[in-house]
Amino acid sequence: MAVDLLIIGGGRMGTALLEGIISSGHLSAEQIGVVEPDAERRAMLRLAHDGLLLVDTPEIEHVGETTSALIAVKPEVAEVATRLVGGLGVARILSIVAGISAARLEAVLPGPIPVIRAMPNTPALIGDGATAISGGSHVTKGDLDWAESLLSSVGVVVRLPEKHLDAVTGLSGSGPAYLFMVAEAMIEAGVTAGLSRETARLLVNQTFLGAGRMLAESGQSAEELRAQVTSPGGTTAAALRSLEARSVRSAFIEAVLTAAERSRSLGR
Ligand SMILES: NC(=O)c1ccc[n+]([C@@H]2O[C@H](COP(=O)([O-])OP(=O)(O)OC[C@H]3O[C@@H](n4cnc5c(N)ncnc54)[C@H](OP(=O)(O)O)[C@@H]3O)[C@@H](O)[C@H]2O)c1
Repeated sequence: MAVDLLIIGGGRMGTALLEGIISSGHLSAEQIGVVEPDAERRAMLRLAHDGLLLVDTPEIEHVGETTSALIAVKPEVAEVATRLVGGLGVARILSIVAGISAARLEAVLPGPIPVIRAMPNTPALIGDGATAISGGSHVTKGDLDWAESLLSSVGVVVRLPEKHLDAVTGLSGSGPAYLFMVAEAMIEAGVTAGLSRETARLLVNQTFLGAGRMLAESGQSAEELRAQVTSPGGTTAAALRSLEARSVRSAFIEAVLTAAERSRSLGR
């Protein structure tokens, strides 16, 4: 039986997207198929989602005129998976694979099948992702509307020209890791200042959550929010001066540019 969406790869990202798509009501389990070689993972998905099509190889009978494919496999097998679903006649392909251009995927397809590229990040696993999408040569506005609506089920989506996806990889793709590292350092600092690790962790985790929500919901810029907690000659001003003296701002800029360059070179 043909499905509306064939997800190739039931790993972390494939499963997160599957769950977001179903829980947002975008599609029901009966409208989705997951291609996953691991039998144990297929069994887990079968238990969690009644009616979901689960197979280890996609067949022609799973693909109808309007079936789209979502490629969520590791980069090494992305071209093989794309060629396979392209050969079955899917209507369009959405790839979340890091570092593989739309042109490279188009090159393995039998015809002008639209290819949309997306760069999500790990908070998509809890429905709070930040994803950028861009279209390949044969993509219409309708294809981008479809991809945006699908990926909105796991967070915020922006549309950008493909040349910016390396910058997105360095900024929001790797971004959660930078913040996790800052959190680790702050917890360590709390312990050094005499707090128990458990207390330091609780306070830092909640500080990240609260500050993140203020950034997203207050309508104020990061600069405004920082200024509000920085009274002249106060404790925060002293701490920020210490961070500036160690070039923390410029270290972040360098980190994002280095990650973007690494993404560019991996994609070559
Ligand atoms: N995680 C992130 O934050 C993130 C962010 C942006 C983009 N991405 C991209 O998302 C993609 C998936 O990442 P992930 O973290 O979800 O990886 P993952 O957990 O390893 O998932 C990949 C899945 O694809 C399956 N697979 C491998 N070969 C296949 C094939 N030929 N046909 C069908 N399924 C196949 C794997 O099964 P086996 O384990 O049995 O091989 C696995 O279940 C990657 O390309 C990555 O670049 C990830």
